[in-house]
Order: sequence, then structure tokens, then C-alpha cells
Amino acid sequence: MPESLSGWRHVYSGKVRDLYESEDPSQSDLVLIVASDRISAFDNILSPAIPGKGENLTAITNFWFEKLAVANHRVKNVATPSEVAERATVAKKLEMYPVECVVRGFIAGSGYKEYLATGEICGISLPSGLKDGDKLQEPIFTPAFKAEVGEHDQNIDFDKVIELVGKEVANQLRDTSIAIYNQASVIALKAGLVLADTKFEFGKDPNGETIVLADEVLTPDSSRYWDKAAYDQGNTVESFDKQIVRNWLLQIWDPEGSNPPTVLSPELVEKVSSRYAELRKKLTGTNQ
Ligand code: C5P
Repeated sequence: MPESLSGWRHVYSGKVRDLYESEDPSQSDLVLIVASDRISAFDNILSPAIPGKGENLTAITNFWFEKLAVANHRVKNVATPSEVAERATVAKKLEMYPVECVVRGFIAGSGYKEYLATGEICGISLPSGLKDGDKLQEPIFTPAFKAEVGEHDQNIDFDKVIELVGKEVANQLRDTSIAIYNQASVIALKAGLVLADTKFEFGKDPNGETIVLADEVLTPDSSRYWDKAAYDQGNTVESFDKQIVRNWLLQIWDPEGSNPPTVLSPELVEKVSSRYAELRKKLTGTNQ
């Protein structure tokens, strides 16, 4: 990852995205977010990278920014550096809320695990007898606390969200998350996709709105997308998201153990790369 891109200097790298600040002091309220091709699972950056992933994630997020009825962090009138144009977003710097706003319309993943153990997810009690992949009566807000780098995120109940951000913002985060999940689910369904669950992140614009959608939005890294026709046949395994990587790793590697994750096979890398491209095509109608 370059230390500088025309007019921007590198300040931070997350597992997947690299952040840059402008060298122009009049743009100190902006940040450049560059989506790399890196992929992470179980809090580890995996190897090798997934060709085309950064561009596909950026295109998918931008697609949703245009569709969703909520303010977002993207600044469209400042150009992205040409070296990374298709992978980069200029955004407003926000004061981020320390909550991963997960919405589930279907039960899967850590939600299903928690439900099996307790009958609840994040303090929300659910009917008995649900199976992995079942549709919920209505979408539920199941937040997680954003852990420091290197720590696992933790599912939390709504009272904990209130403690973290106050009652008014907690209500707004929940209601906005569910509303945009519902809006997105209808759009996904028209593209032949079931949006099982997803995670949003919001921040406060110091010069504006309190609830601004940030980060990646409804990407295959932050969501579970199932093929509608396959789902109707009872198949949620061949999904269009990172779950195929998690499933592959779990067959041969123990995320709780001390060994580093297994290097991804060329076949898996190719599969993930083409699945992400296919999701982009299904949603946006184009792959470039
Ligand atoms: O694993 P779990 O069932 O909790 O994930 C629910 C949804 O939220 C999944 O779509 C997952 O990709 C997303 N998520 C995320 N980042 C997190 C936690 C969950 O993108 N830190």
C-alpha cells in the first residue's frame, strides 16, 4: 500500500481498508478510504488477496449509498486519486459510534449460535424451534460492541447501546438500521437475492446530521446474501459473501487455536473473486 497518493498521505490501515488524509489543509475534514483486495475472517487478514475485491466492494457500497434513504459520508465533488479511482471514496470525517449495527431478517452465524445456547439474540427472545437459515417474523436489531484492534467484537443488548451512546441516538441507530435493511431487502429480492443479515456503521457529522451512514454498506464482507432460488430449495451454503471463506477455513483450521489461518487455495480465491463480481453484477447490473 503506497505511503502517499497524489495529494493524500497514509494515516491508518484496517484489515481491509487503508485511510489517507488530504495534504490540503482546507480539506482537513475529509478522509480518503481505499478498499484493498485483502480479505479477513475470524479477525485475521488472510492470504492471498482476492483479485478485484476492492473495486467490487466500492461499487457495491456506492450503489447502496445512491439507493438508501439515509444521509451517508460520501463526498462526491472531490476527485479520488487516479491510481485508486475505482477503489477509493472521499468521505466526511465523522465521530463514529462504537456500535456495529447488525440487523437480521434470517437467523444464521453467531446469531444462530447464541439462539441455540440461550433462546435469544442480544437479549431479544425468539420463538423455539428455529432452524439455521429460517426467516424471522420481523427483522431484529442485534448490535455488537466494536472491539479494539485484535479483540473480538461482542454481541450486546439494547441497554448496553443506550449506555454507550445515549437513549436518543440508540433509538435512532436501531430504527434507521431496520428501515434501511427493509428497503435493501426489497431491492435485493428483485435481483434474485435474499439479504439474510448485515452490519451498518454510523457516525455523527460534527458539522451536520447525527446519524450518517459510513464505512462499507451491504457488501459481501458485511452481509449475508443468499441466492433466492437456492434458498427456496433449502440451500444457504453457496452464498454470495464471505461465509464461503469462513466455511472453507472451518473445515481445516481452528479459529480458537494458536496456529495462523491456512493459506487460501487458488480454487477458493477464484470462487470468492467471481462470487463478489457476480453479486456486484446482480445488484448494479454492471461489472465495471
Ligand atoms: O457473525 P454474525 O452472525 O454475528 O454476523 C452478522 C452479520 O453482520 C454478517 O452479515 C456479518 O458479515 C456482519 N458483521 C460484520 N462485522 C462484524 C460483525 C458482523 O460485518 N464485526
